[in-house]
Amino acid sequence: MSFKGKVAIVTGSSSGIGAAVAMSLSAEGASVVIVGRNEAKLAATKAKCANALVVRADITIDADARRIVQQTIEKFGKIDILVNNAGNSILASIFDENIMESYDFTMNINLRAVFRMTSLVVPHIIKTKGNIVMISSVTGRSTSFGAQAISYAVSKAGLNHFGAYLAADLAPHGVRVNVISPGPVYTDLIENSGYDGSYDVLKFHTALDSVSHPQEIADLVLMVANDKAKSITGSNLFCDNGWMIKRY
Ligand SMILES: NC(=O)c1ccc[n+]([C@@H]2O[C@H](COP(=O)([O-])OP(=O)(O)OC[C@H]3O[C@@H](n4cnc5c(N)ncnc54)[C@H](OP(=O)(O)O)[C@@H]3O)[C@@H](O)[C@H]2O)c1
Repeated sequence: MSFKGKVAIVTGSSSGIGAAVAMSLSAEGASVVIVGRNEAKLAATKAKCANALVVRADITIDADARRIVQQTIEKFGKIDILVNNAGNSILASIFDENIMESYDFTMNINLRAVFRMTSLVVPHIIKTKGNIVMISSVTGRSTSFGAQAISYAVSKAGLNHFGAYLAADLAPHGVRVNVISPGPVYTDLIENSGYDGSYDVLKFHTALDSVSHPQEIADLVLMVANDKAKSITGSNLFCDNGWMIKRY
């Protein structure tokens, strides 16, 4: 699946799903912009990409978001693909003292930063008639992850509707927007968020009794971001080992 001549920004590509997406796009010929905060992890992704620009940035800071877009245009002259992948969470239930800390932190990175990045990229992506991919989660449509994930789940539900709304707004401009909703994936996110369950518990919630590897999500991102998917817009594609259809 060729991405020759395409320029893609992948937020949160210093690790996990984003790193797999950046490496896969690069392997298929795209110029990629690798974005994250951790210098060592950014360098590790860059080492596996052929034509890459690293922008060390915190996408929750507006000036950093502007710098990502500005440096991309300076280096590559255009933007064809934006993958809004960076995400994070502080887990807390509605009964916990720190619920508003959890809400503010999670919404800031999972939703506000996505709005900010997208609004800055839109004028450029209209010129190329490119496309945008949002990395959401099954939690945006299900309650199975448990009470601690309420802020995360609500942020991803918001992201789902942002994707659908944006798809309608940008369709007249020839720009596609799609959402991908993974189930559990082996990455740093789950441990970093303070989740205290095991991957076996997460497997139990899937019909296929399985947890994905980041490459499986990257493969789907490449499928929808490719020009061959020219009729796919406003979709929310699940890549979840059957999390959504599990019978208990
Ligand atoms: N793992 C799962 O089970 C799972 C399931 C469904 C959906 N997802 C979604 O998949 C996406 C990627 O997560 P992952 O699982 O691959 O986790 P990950 O390995 O922890 O990756 C998260 C990425 O986001 C970046 N990031 C976080 N905050 C940032 C900020 N303020 N500014 C810039 N970059 C930031 C991190 O980079 P730095 O640390 O370098 O800043 C890292 O590259 C997220 O949106 C997540 O919600 C994950």
